This record gives sequence, structure tokens and C-alpha cells, in this order.
Amino acid sequence: MKRLKVLNIVGARPQIIKASAISRAITNDFADKFEEIIVHTGQHYDRELSDVFFDELEIRMPDFNLQVGSARHGRQTGMIMERIEDVMLSEKPDFVIIYGDTNSTIAAALAASKQHFPVVHIEAGMRSFNKQMPEELNRIVADHASTLLFAPTNTAFKNLMAEGFRPENTFPYSINNPRVILTGDIMYDNSLFYAELAEKKKKSFLTNVGIEEDNYVLVTIHRDMNTDDIQRLSNIFNTLIELSESGKTDMVMPLHPRTIIALKNNLPEIYKHIKESGHFRLIPPVSFLEMILLEKKAKMIVTDSGGVQKESHFFSKPCIVLRQETEWVELVKNGTVKLADADPGKIREAWDYFMNNTDVLQYPGFYGDGKAATAILNEMLIVFSH
Ligand code: UD1
Ligand code: UDP
Repeated sequence: MKRLKVLNIVGARPQIIKASAISRAITNDFADKFEEIIVHTGQHYDRELSDVFFDELEIRMPDFNLQVGSARHGRQTGMIMERIEDVMLSEKPDFVIIYGDTNSTIAAALAASKQHFPVVHIEAGMRSFNKQMPEELNRIVADHASTLLFAPTNTAFKNLMAEGFRPENTFPYSINNPRVILTGDIMYDNSLFYAELAEKKKKSFLTNVGIEEDNYVLVTIHRDMNTDDIQRLSNIFNTLIELSESGKTDMVMPLHPRTIIALKNNLPEIYKHIKESGHFRLIPPVSFLEMILLEKKAKMIVTDSGGVQKESHFFSKPCIVLRQETEWVELVKNGTVKLADADPGKIREAWDYFMNNTDVLQYPGFYGDGKAATAILNEMLIVFSH
């Protein structure tokens, strides 16, 4: 049988990490079934947001890099569409895989579906029900442009049902008759796979950063709702400064470049303070193995990231989320994620609760069996070899 040609589309940091689960499964178990072409939109381009993941996670370098770089939403999305359509028309894939909810996701979904290349959306059905988030618009459109939708959680699956997707659809599948399936989360596959490797390969990392196991809080902030709103950003940082200094708690912050730019430009006093404070370790974005190690050994995590809040669960760590809502609602229900928005009172309350109740928290398995990538590839084979 002829191999199915698949375009695996990445653009932003978390997509490169997600795609590694699929690439690894293709290489190990499906090399005779799929021909994989990796397309990088170039949305993320700094070494520590892009190349570091290709090197460390041993993914083949992209076959195409569209080099769109940073731009406003419309321009960035438009540039990706224009360039990725050319690749699609020359490569003529059997289908196109997209991940998550970034501008690269929506651009690839629109370009592919309009040229009638079937779209496969991995991490489908996530909803925050806040359409002011660019990601929420990206996810909704991506799902409705897809032929095959893989929901990572029960909630995601139910969200799709509520929007009219039907599990009883049968062959032949298409954008008008899509297949929706609950598979678990490929990021859980990745965390299991890389956690051991992280311990082996990054032995001296914590010492190099100047922190001790179980004695620091890991913080990441990058959402535009926080970085681009001076009031929210200063509430968050002032509260973290107060908490770390009053409790003498070290905080490690691998900050996204947009957060550094926002601090330098709009809150230079705070930036200076955290750079000079003995309790803060302000470091550039780290590799995935380093990140996993930081998550695994932390006392607590504070973040506005989708991926990091879920990894907090994989590594049984309480997590304060600096947003009003989350797509990973099962974590909030479980009591191990607390939504604190950018509200100093809520951040303090969640912090005190977690600092004093670590031992009673439970972390049940919400995200599948760690074999989601294999289930996903088997399903693609069934759907597209028909
Ligand atoms: C994007 C996604 C977001 C995802 C995040 C993962 C959208 C709308 N947002 O947000 O959903 O959570 O990626 O990290 O797609 N920059 C650099 N170097 C880079 C890339 C960006 O310095 O390699 C800076 C630029 O100043 C740029 C800013 O970061 O303007 C924002 O980058 P962009 O890709 O637009 O959005 P992210 O915040 O990274
Ligand atoms: N991550 C990383 N290094 C960092 C910060 C994050 O490897 O310095 C990983 C993190 O472990 C997770 C993913 O990047 O797997 C999350 O990306 P991000 O927070 O940028 O985006 P989101 O998940 O919110 O879309």
C-alpha cells in the first residue's frame, strides 16, 4: 500500500513539543504507513522557543520553514495562509495535522480546508468560553474546518457535541461529516516519555539555576491578557514579590520574550527589583527536559500557560492559574488548580491554601493512558486509507 502523505504543522513552542509525540510514533511504529512532511510556520523563531526543541526532542528539522516571524494577528495569520497554501498545493498531502489554538493552527486549518485537504485537529474541543482570547477563536474555527477531531478530555468531547458534532457519523468522513473521537492527551505521552530522560540528562540543572528540590515555586507568564495589560502585570508581579519575600520562597521564572519586553518597557522598576532580588531566578525560556525537571521538583507552580497547568497535574503539583477561566476545567474541579485571575487577594488565598495543604491533594488520571499518539495514528490510518 502507498504511504499516506501527511503535513505535520508547527509554529509555536508547544506545537513543536506536541508534534514530537506524533513524529516519534510515526518513526517507531508507522514508518511504512505514513510519509511525514514537517512544516514550521516560523511563528516562533528564537532558538529557545524553536530549534532547541528540534534538537533535544530529536525531531527532524522542518522540511519547510515559512519564516513568517512576529506580526499583528491579521498579518501573521494571512502570511502563514499565503505561504502554507503554496506548500500544500505543491506537496498535495493526503491530510494535514494541526495542533492546539495558535495563529499557525487557524491559518493552516483555513488554507487546507479551502483547498479541500482534510484537516486533522489534535487537541480539539477545548473551550474557555471567552471569545476575547485569540486562542478561543482559533480553536473554534480550526475544529469546524476539520475532518478528524481528537479530543483530549471528556469535557472537550462534550464541548464538540454541544456545537453539533456527532459521534454517530460514519464513513466516508469529510469536513461536512467529520469524525470526532476521545483519545487522551499526547502531552501526557510526552511527559511520561521525557520525565525519566530529564532526570538522567539534566542532573545538575537545578544546582546551576541556584535552587533546591521542593523548595521553590515555578512561574511562567506569557498570555497577552497579562503581558499587554499593565495593571494586571503589575498586580501579578507585585503579589509574587510580596509572597516570595515574606515567605522567603525562591521563584524560578523562565520568561517568554514578550513578558520580558513588557516588563522592560512598562514596568522597569519591577523588572529591576526581580532581577536584583535574591529570591527570583529570572532565566530565559528553557528546553522541554529542563522544564519537566523544574515542574517535577517544584513545590508549586504559578502560570497562565495551558500546557504548564496540565503538566502540573502530570507531576502532582498544585497550580495557581493567572486567568479567569481555563479549558482544563477538570483540574479546577479537582481542587489542584485554582483560578486566581490577576487578583492579588485570590493569588494570596490560593498560595496560602496550597502551601498548607500539599499533602491532602490528589491527582487522578484525567488524560488517558499515555498512548494517545498511537491511538491517533491508528485512527488516521483507518479514516484516510478508506
Ligand atoms: C503564541 C500563541 C499562544 C501560545 C504561545 C505559546 C497565538 C495567537 N498565540 O503566543 O496561544 O500560548 O504562542 O508560547 O498564536 N517573540 C519573540 N521570539 C519568538 C517569538 C515571539 O521574541 O521567537 C515575541 C515577539 O515580540 C512577538 C511576541 O513574542 O511579538 C508574541 O509572539 P506570538 O507568536 O505572536 O505570540 P505568543 O505570545 O508567543
Ligand atoms: N515550556 C518549555 N520551556 C519554557 C516554558 C514552557 O519547554 O521555558 C513548555 C511547557 O513545558 C509546555 C509548553 O512549553 O509543554 C507550553 O508552552 P506555552 O506555555 O508557551 O504555551 P501554551 O501551552 O499556553 O499554549
